[in-house]
Amino acid sequence: MTGFMGDPADWWWRDFESFADMWTKYYTDREPESTFVIDIDGVAVGYLTGCYDSERAWDPGAVAARHAIRRLCMFRPGTAGTIWRSISDVAIDKIVGRGGPPKPFNDSRWPSHLHINMLEVARGKGFGRQLVDTWLERLRERGSPGCYLETMFENTSAIAFFESVGFTRHGPPQLLPGIRDRVGLRMHSQAMVCSLD
Ligand SMILES: CC(C)(COP(=O)(O)OP(=O)(O)OC[C@H]1O[C@@H](n2cnc3c(N)ncnc32)[C@H](O)[C@@H]1OP(=O)(O)O)[C@@H](O)C(=O)NCCC(=O)NCCS
Repeated sequence: MTGFMGDPADWWWRDFESFADMWTKYYTDREPESTFVIDIDGVAVGYLTGCYDSERAWDPGAVAARHAIRRLCMFRPGTAGTIWRSISDVAIDKIVGRGGPPKPFNDSRWPSHLHINMLEVARGKGFGRQLVDTWLERLRERGSPGCYLETMFENTSAIAFFESVGFTRHGPPQLLPGIRDRVGLRMHSQAMVCSLD
C-alpha cells in the first residue's frame, strides 16, 4: 500500500480497511466511471480516482472520525497515535493562533478533483501523464470548468509532476494536523488547479 508520498503509510495509519474507506471507497463505489487503473501483466500498479462534482465526495476527515469511533481506531495501536496527535495539533494551533485545520477546497471554478498513485515499479514511464490526460479529457467532454487536487507541499516530486501535466499551485501551503514526516516535523497540504476552458 502506498499512501505517504509514494511510500507505505502503515507507520502512521495501520488499519487498511479505514484507510481504503477514507481514500478510495467513494470513488470505487459511487463513481466507478471516474476511476482508471494501470495494469501490467494483470497486476494493478497504479490508479487515478476522479470526482466530477466534489460536493458529492466524502470528506476523508469525516470518514476517519467515523472509523475512530466505530472501529475503535482512536484506541488501537497503529492509528490511535495519529488521531490523538491530530486532536492536540488542532487544539494547540487554535491556542497559539495558527488557525484551524485546512478547510475542504471549495471553488466553483474547479469543481472536479483527482487522486493518483503509482507503485514504484510503474513510476517514470509516462503512465501518470496518461492517466491525468485521460481524466482531464473526460472532464472536458462532460463540461467541467476545472479540476483541483491536494498534495503534500513537501512532496516536491508530485508537485513537479502535476506542474508538468498542467496544474498550478493555488494558495499557500496549509499546516496539516496530526501528520509528521519521518523526523517528526509537521507537514502541509498544497492545493493545485487546472482550468479546462
Ligand atoms: C507522482 C506520480 C503520480 C507521477 O506519475 P509517473 O507515471 O511517475 O509520471 P510520468 O512518468 O507520467 O511523468 C510525467 C511528467 O512528469 C514529470 N515528473 C514525473 N515525476 C517527476 C519527478 N519526480 N520530478 C520531476 N518531474 C517529474 C516527468 O518529467 C514527466 O515529464 P515528461 O512527460 O515531459 O517527461 C507517481 O510518480 C507517483 O505515484 N508517485 C508516488 C505517489 C505520489 O506522490 N502520488 C501523488 C500524491 S498526491
